[in-house]
Amino acid sequence: MRETPGRTGKRSRLRMLVACGLAWLCSTPLSVAIDSPRSGLAQAAHIPTGRELMLQFQCNRCHDGPYLTAAPSEKHCVTCHQQILSGSFRIDGKTLIRWQGNIKSLPDVPSLHGIERRLRSDWIAKYLQQPHDLRPGLIALMPRLPLQERHALRIAAALVSSEAPAVEFPRDAETLRRGRALLQTQGCGTCHRFTGVEPLSASPLPVPIRPAALAQGIRLAPDLRHTRERVQTAYLVQWLRDPTSIKPDSTMPKIPLSQEQATAIAAYVMMAPLAPLPPPVLPTRLPILQRRVSFAEVNDQVFRRTCWHCHSTPEFAMGDGGPGNTGGFGFAGRGLNLATYSDVLAGSLDDQGERRSIFVPQADGTSILLRALLARQRELAGQITPGVYGMPLGLPALTAEQIQLVESWIAQGRPQ
Ligand code: HEC
Ligand code: HEC
Ligand code: HEC
Ligand code: HEC
Repeated sequence: MRETPGRTGKRSRLRMLVACGLAWLCSTPLSVAIDSPRSGLAQAAHIPTGRELMLQFQCNRCHDGPYLTAAPSEKHCVTCHQQILSGSFRIDGKTLIRWQGNIKSLPDVPSLHGIERRLRSDWIAKYLQQPHDLRPGLIALMPRLPLQERHALRIAAALVSSEAPAVEFPRDAETLRRGRALLQTQGCGTCHRFTGVEPLSASPLPVPIRPAALAQGIRLAPDLRHTRERVQTAYLVQWLRDPTSIKPDSTMPKIPLSQEQATAIAAYVMMAPLAPLPPPVLPTRLPILQRRVSFAEVNDQVFRRTCWHCHSTPEFAMGDGGPGNTGGFGFAGRGLNLATYSDVLAGSLDDQGERRSIFVPQADGTSILLRALLARQRELAGQITPGVYGMPLGLPALTAEQIQLVESWIAQGRPQ
């Protein structure tokens, strides 16, 4: 890692490269979409299967699950963070503690195990094309990938090959009232939110749970508002009574519920009337700062803090500068390295592979850099900007203050 070049110097990098880097390089398909029109192979005889597409889009750098061989830990966005957070990553104690304090966004990702009986294929295909926030306890979101509809449909069909016919739930007032009461008393609100109904309160879990599993459960519990759109109803009652019988690695505990109690809960989750969400508000754009803004400050608050992991220096990561530099997650490399002042000024590659500045104003008057940051705010409000991927990819938008800092630094002529 670039952080401590002296320590994780050439020798250990070489060791890691020999141990796993080569295996990864050899086993990883090109990140350019193999059936994309841009690659000129659109007419090729082989149409990639859903499984091949998942390797190509590198779903295995974040998710475990069916068809996914885990990416090696130095490529795996979650495994490496977990090793650092648990202290098993081999580095000096001081660095480890600092890193531990900085890793917030991706301590976990939901695995895709058991997905064939949990989620609906039509929902997966839609979600892959326009992901939205499902888990209030997890900072990271599913990133928007360069997937076309046909890719999403093929992946969804591979993940969920056959669905059980949907079942109906009772919706009478008495059943819903019972379901609601059980949600309140069985500890569900400790992990889950349910936006759109009267807020659930946290209540003690009726079963013992290890603190680490509870913390992970809180991060990974979906907002139950989305459940009715996404789950296979035929398995919902079984899920509530025994989650690991469907998803072996689930941290949702087995809470003793009768068939009738679980049915009442399922009925409430699926049928309770939902209040509409308030319309999304875009953060206001703050005025340019009058005080001087240096690169060091922008780096500290933005590039180094959030971006550098996907836009880093290749030499320090076995030839891989991250998805936003050398490519990955199905993106061809944009060559954008945000590690140092001169790297940032060196800019990125356009669609023809020509280098350009990220400060050049675009049609809308903003620079490539600012356009990407503002596009992320809009994406989270459900508005896609055609041809632009919002940055930071798969993470919450920068705050109005962070964007103000970047904008002020650009306006002041990008001082060092
Ligand atoms: C950079 C990491 C990352 C990559 C790469 C990634 N995902 Fe995700 N994915 C996430 C995160 C984080 C979530 C949870 C988001 C949330 O709950 O709001 C998620 C959620 C999902 C879900 C919903 C699962 C559930 O139980 O709710 C599915 C399905 C999914 N991803 C499929 C895929 C597929 C298929 C690919 C590859 C084409 C992929 N993901 C690539 C990070 C990633
Ligand atoms: C080899 C281990 C390793 C790998 C692989 C790795 N990270 Fe990190 N990540 C770290 C460390 C260490 C930090 C903290 C760096 C610091 O404090 O300077 C970090 C910090 C981050 C941060 C900023 C802090 C935060 O939590 O918001 C983000 C975002 C991030 N990583 C995303 C990713 C993504 C996306 C991938 C996969 C493309 C990835 N990381 C792969 C080790 C890793
Ligand atoms: C310790 C935290 C925790 C508790 C307590 C808990 N859950 Fe969960 N629940 C989860 C997690 C985590 C998931 C996501 C599945 C997974 O990835 O393991 C989940 C998934 C679900 C789902 C599927 C939602 C979806 O959209 O996919 C439902 C429904 C659900 N839980 C209901 C309940 C109910 C009802 C209770 C109380 C009886 C409860 N949960 C208690 C953690 C918890
Ligand atoms: C999870 C990985 C990831 C993170 C985190 C991330 N990026 Fe990116 N970034 C990418 C990828 C992948 C692309 C290529 C998108 C494409 O090809 O259109 C990209 C493209 C860009 C571009 C457009 C370059 C061009 O010429 O079109 C800019 C600007 C950018 N990123 C800035 C940032 C900034 C600033 C941050 C932090 C606030 C950030 N990125 C965080 C992955 C990431």
